Amino acid sequence: MKILAIDTSCDETSVAVTEGARILTNVVSTQVRYHKKFGGVVPFLAQRLHKSRIDSVVELALERAGHPNVDAIAVTYGPGLAPALQVGIEKAKQLAADMQLPLYAVNHMAGHIAASYAVTGRKVVMPEFPVLAVLVSGGHTEMVLMHSFGEFEIIGQTLDDALGEAYDKVAKMLGLGYPGGKLVAKLAREGNAQAYYLPIPMLRSGDLNVSYSGLKNACRLLIEKLSAEGLNRKIIADICASFERVAQASMLAKVEKALIAHPEVRQVVLGGGVAANTEFRKKLRALCRPRDLELLTPPRLNLCADNAAMIGIAAHFGVVSGLVPADPITLDRVPYLSLEDTTFTRVMDSASIDELK
Ligand code: KG4
Ligand code: ZN
Repeated sequence: MKILAIDTSCDETSVAVTEGARILTNVVSTQVRYHKKFGGVVPFLAQRLHKSRIDSVVELALERAGHPNVDAIAVTYGPGLAPALQVGIEKAKQLAADMQLPLYAVNHMAGHIAASYAVTGRKVVMPEFPVLAVLVSGGHTEMVLMHSFGEFEIIGQTLDDALGEAYDKVAKMLGLGYPGGKLVAKLAREGNAQAYYLPIPMLRSGDLNVSYSGLKNACRLLIEKLSAEGLNRKIIADICASFERVAQASMLAKVEKALIAHPEVRQVVLGGGVAANTEFRKKLRALCRPRDLELLTPPRLNLCADNAAMIGIAAHFGVVSGLVPADPITLDRVPYLSLEDTTFTRVMDSASIDELK
């Protein structure tokens, strides 16, 4: 089944054509340079830009895929910025009506999970349930036990800021620019991660949750103190490295705890913008290896960030697990959509398992 997928949940206008888990084309038109001067995404500016670009991005995706016969439309309906989501949903409804195709509503976070199953070469990786999905993006940080592609159980999450958001805020405090995750990560490679003491949050909370607002404040105080004496590249790199070590250690401690609590887990999937962080991947892999668990990450770095191909792939796996088309009359954006709201199940018969392959 060829799917034309759309994602406009934040500041990328993205349209893809996928077939099963294979990506035929994945066009991403980023708005970053417009939001940069505001230090974050401005929702109504994002909406205006999505509106002005969506038609040409759809056209470009269809052209690059060689004008295929599309069998279905898929669109992100949440979570995300309400005005931004609306643009993609309206376009998807229009396309589904014009082309008389079924319309599938996809949870953006299910897309971040699906990105690790994208087939970009010859290697095909199949989900082995239960899967532990570690989702670390700019808007979300959660650990999800996935029993099928239609049954998600959130077993831990952030109580406040997301991990990517914490990176972005530290970058902002240091005047590094937006989005800052990548810049903090790059500087951290030059710095000494033991240079400054920052407490690892939530280590003794007894649950699988994390929290980054305390660490963010500790960084703010540290930066204020060091700024009084004057910052230089070496000091900034040391701050980035110290922050990164502690922020990652907190998340990794909870992943380890989750793996101990759920020995039935057969596969670990890393998704979301922070999945692009090589240090985090390395440490997570080191946690999985002694347990004989495979860590799946998106096969290309650009599949960690927001894109529509992951939405098409999530729709494919969703359909195999029993996802039915949405009613275009009632389908609406759900800005705070949880993966647990997206739970639906169908007993997998052998035919649907074959379909997955
Ligand atoms: O998944 P994503 O593209 O958008 C959301 O759905 O939120 O994630 C973006 C987040 C931003 O906070 C960005 O700073 C962060 O991912 N990020 C990184 C890295 N690359 C992107 N954080 C840490 N290290 C990176 N290499
Ligand atoms: Zn995202």
